Amino acid sequence: MTNRIKIAIDSPAAAGAGTMAKLISKNYNLAQLDTGKIYRLIAYYKIKYPNKFNLKFLKKKIYNLKISQLSNKTLLNDEIGLQASIVAKKKSIRKLVHTFQVNFAYNPPKKFNGSCLDGRDITYNIVPDADIKLFITASLKVRATRRYKELKALKKDVSFKEVLKSIKKRDENDYNRKISPLVKTRDSFLINTTNLTKRASFLKIKKIIDRKLIKNGNL
Ligand code: C5P
Repeated sequence: MTNRIKIAIDSPAAAGAGTMAKLISKNYNLAQLDTGKIYRLIAYYKIKYPNKFNLKFLKKKIYNLKISQLSNKTLLNDEIGLQASIVAKKKSIRKLVHTFQVNFAYNPPKKFNGSCLDGRDITYNIVPDADIKLFITASLKVRATRRYKELKALKKDVSFKEVLKSIKKRDENDYNRKISPLVKTRDSFLINTTNLTKRASFLKIKKIIDRKLIKNGNL
């Protein structure tokens, strides 16, 4: 492997980008960062420490952020997801997490062949020169159904209606915000997983990545 690979993924809530990012990272030995988890962690701090929650407090937390903190199951909560989409609208907060993400994308640990990041502004803001850019999406109903099943498997007490409402609200926040809104860039491959299984989605993505890596001389 000569050049290090950078893969950037953007997607609306619950479109399966996280799952695909995991499979891609494993297959190509890439360091993976689910950037939504950072905003979720910030939302969690906002809920847990309402009195301490300010930029100075956050700066310290983000400066000392360890990737392992992002696998906390509490962060998967839909209420946290919605709160995350509210804190993510703030310019000061986005600025705070920007460096961490860029650093991860461009300087992944040596044992990896590169990096794979997913979020909302990765393809045009965090890794604008990514080797491969993907925009992964699915219909609102399918996304809500998948997220509902996921939360039920985690024994969370939610109804389908609540999940649907929360994802709809998050779409509204993410697509319409002024700073770093969710958009599909012209150079991103569109992957619509509405009628695809996990495996079929991954195989479709793998084909695109392999083709690009062969062209770039990585494979
Ligand atoms: O991807 P996930 O659903 O975990 O993201 C939670 C929220 O964090 C999103 O709804 C979005 O508002 C915000 N986010 C963002 N930019 C990113 C990743 C996530 O604004 N790069």
